Amino acid sequence: PARVKVAPSLLSADFADLGGELAAIAAAGADWAHLDVMDGHFVPNITFGPPVIAKLRPRSQLFFDAHLMIRQPERYVGDFVKAGADLITVHAEACDHLHRVLGQIREAGVKAGVALNPHTPVGVLAHVLDLVDLILIMTVNPGFGGQRFIEACLPKISEAREMLARAGLEGRVEIQVDGGVDPVTAPRCVAAGATVLVAGTAVFGKGDYAQAIAALRG
Ligand code: DX5
Ligand code: ZN
Repeated sequence: PARVKVAPSLLSADFADLGGELAAIAAAGADWAHLDVMDGHFVPNITFGPPVIAKLRPRSQLFFDAHLMIRQPERYVGDFVKAGADLITVHAEACDHLHRVLGQIREAGVKAGVALNPHTPVGVLAHVLDLVDLILIMTVNPGFGGQRFIEACLPKISEAREMLARAGLEGRVEIQVDGGVDPVTAPRCVAAGATVLVAGTAVFGKGDYAQAIAALRG
């Protein structure tokens, strides 16, 4: 299997120096930049949106992985594409018409992901798999960095992998894990089938980003 990708979450970065932080994680070996967008409605926190991402875009070559924790994301897909997102992940719980939104994202020319809260079964994706480039298994309740990995979510990673295998899509859809990923939980996620690890605290909470990213790869 390919080496696991590491996507540091800028949520735990210095918001007054996001450009510098992006450069630092790129130099430290990050594969993607994970951009947590929160609206204060779907989740009880507010971060940043398309204008900030648009300003970051010319500062970095990293793949921009936008994790939208917002209700009615269909209203903003065009803005995030224009801002420079390479992948747009929406929450299944935040979409009345998930199938339509995924089609909209792909039609806009970027990759489409679906995130699942801890309580949401993997099976909700059974009938949209052909529209999905990434499945995001949340291992915390979204909204904040620095929370504890929820053990009960771990089996969902292998369930996602099995579902993809049954559909003949294994290796063609990324399985991303987000929340409480650290050098202890990361190898367990990878063993279960994770192909992309998101980490906020475990990267930006450390002095040496390169060492922190290497430690996640195990
Ligand atoms: C949580 C966000 C995560 C967050 C993870 O709502 O989606 O991306 O930054 O932070 P850690 O890695 O500290 O759990
Ligand atoms: Zn995230």
